[in-house]
Amino acid sequence: MTTPSDRSAAPRRCLAIVLAAGEGKRMRSTLPKVLHKVAGRSMLAHVLDAVGRAGADAVAVVVGPGREDVAAEARATASEAGIFTQAERLGTAHAVLAAREAIAAGYDDLLVLFADTPLVRPETFAQLRAKLAEGAGVVALGFEPEDPAGYGRLLTDEAGALVAIREHKDASAAELTVRSCNAGLMALDGRRALGWLERIDNANAQKEYYLPDAVAVARADGAACALVEASAQEVLGVNDRAQLAVAEAEIQRRLRLAAMLGGATLIAPETVFFSHDTVLGADVTVEPHVVFGPGVKVGDGCVIHAFSHLEGATLAKNVSIGPYARLRPGAKLADKARVGNFVEIKQADIGEGAKVNHLTYIGDASIGARSNIGAGVITCNYDGFLKYRTHVGADAFIGSNSALVAPVEIGDRAFVGSGSVVTENVAPDSLAVARGRQAVIPGWAEGFRRKMAALKAAK
Ligand code: UD1
Ligand code: CA
Repeated sequence: MTTPSDRSAAPRRCLAIVLAAGEGKRMRSTLPKVLHKVAGRSMLAHVLDAVGRAGADAVAVVVGPGREDVAAEARATASEAGIFTQAERLGTAHAVLAAREAIAAGYDDLLVLFADTPLVRPETFAQLRAKLAEGAGVVALGFEPEDPAGYGRLLTDEAGALVAIREHKDASAAELTVRSCNAGLMALDGRRALGWLERIDNANAQKEYYLPDAVAVARADGAACALVEASAQEVLGVNDRAQLAVAEAEIQRRLRLAAMLGGATLIAPETVFFSHDTVLGADVTVEPHVVFGPGVKVGDGCVIHAFSHLEGATLAKNVSIGPYARLRPGAKLADKARVGNFVEIKQADIGEGAKVNHLTYIGDASIGARSNIGAGVITCNYDGFLKYRTHVGADAFIGSNSALVAPVEIGDRAFVGSGSVVTENVAPDSLAVARGRQAVIPGWAEGFRRKMAALKAAK
């Protein structure tokens, strides 16, 4: 037998519907708006990730007709997401109803989110859901923008209870003076939402079915409506590329703060740019002007010197890179490896304590432990058609300005003389020198000078 207290203790099941059917014309882009990236990941993926972290049991994404690219991104981020198409763009309530089938499956909480509002934190979704658990029928998210023009206004009664949301274009002069605005996303009682959404009409200035009208409809049905407050930064909606940059700045601010609170030293945090998935270990120091692309993991005690650019790279512990290092995808640096200035590393393993300190390209290669790669060494990994690998063993020494023409292997403890173009394998413990032999003619310069001076004087 189930008692009421058992029921309240059971976890509430939640469906999140993400609206992504907007056209995004103001982005002036061939890419759909919600696929534009902040911190290296699409806005849609940010929202789906936040929804997952907020504990949604099911996700429905509403896309515009023919938007296979948006659907694919949704599936790539949230594989279980149901994809629904809104055939015609008739308003936010109409968009939610495109996922009618998912709502009808029966959930306690229904969260409606906008894919172009990527900064809302899982904690805020949890606050909205908490109000539903307390008995609210509809929970709106409010904020106070500097300029309320264009936003829906939150209308409250004398007691401060939310009674309706009025879109800017439908508002009276008195209603337009209200500074408290609707952020757009909301939470609805999952058991009653369908009935309310179906009662919303389009008798308004824009002839659209407004999701915010769910407040008035629920009130008319005797349900209480609640309000959660958020900051204007958190609920920023992105409509053009200027707002995209504002969203990027806010997400970078959060990522820098998280990095520092997580134990990394950022000397000039405002000059460091992270990807959403950057992982930094303990006691990492990041000097000014460093850019992290997607897929970077940095182990404990590493130092990233100024002006370095990293993407898809893994650094073990106590590694030092830069200043001016470029680590491309597949760069793997073992403990205490050192990569210096103007060095590019791609698809390569750099062994423990190995040094690649100056002006070098290492691609499709492995460098053994403690080996020293001299200044200006290049792995020639590409012949214009195919790529080939270079292997350098442990404790080897590659002289400056050498070219290692792949495929090629340099054995453990081998030496390569500087300026060599190495096309054949070098056995362990040997010396390879592959350059023209030096010739010296004693006294030649003196004779040359005398002859030339005489010629000039005869002119
Ligand atoms: C909406 C709110 C407004 C709020 C504002 C905050 C409505 C009617 N108004 O207005 O109260 O202050 O957000 O930014 O909801 N979408 C669809 N299909 C549609 C229409 C919209 O998928 O038919 C999606 C859009 O892609 C977008 C979101 O819903 O992600 C919001 O739509 P938008 O037209 O931008 O609403 P606003 O006019 O900004
Ligand atoms: Ca909008």
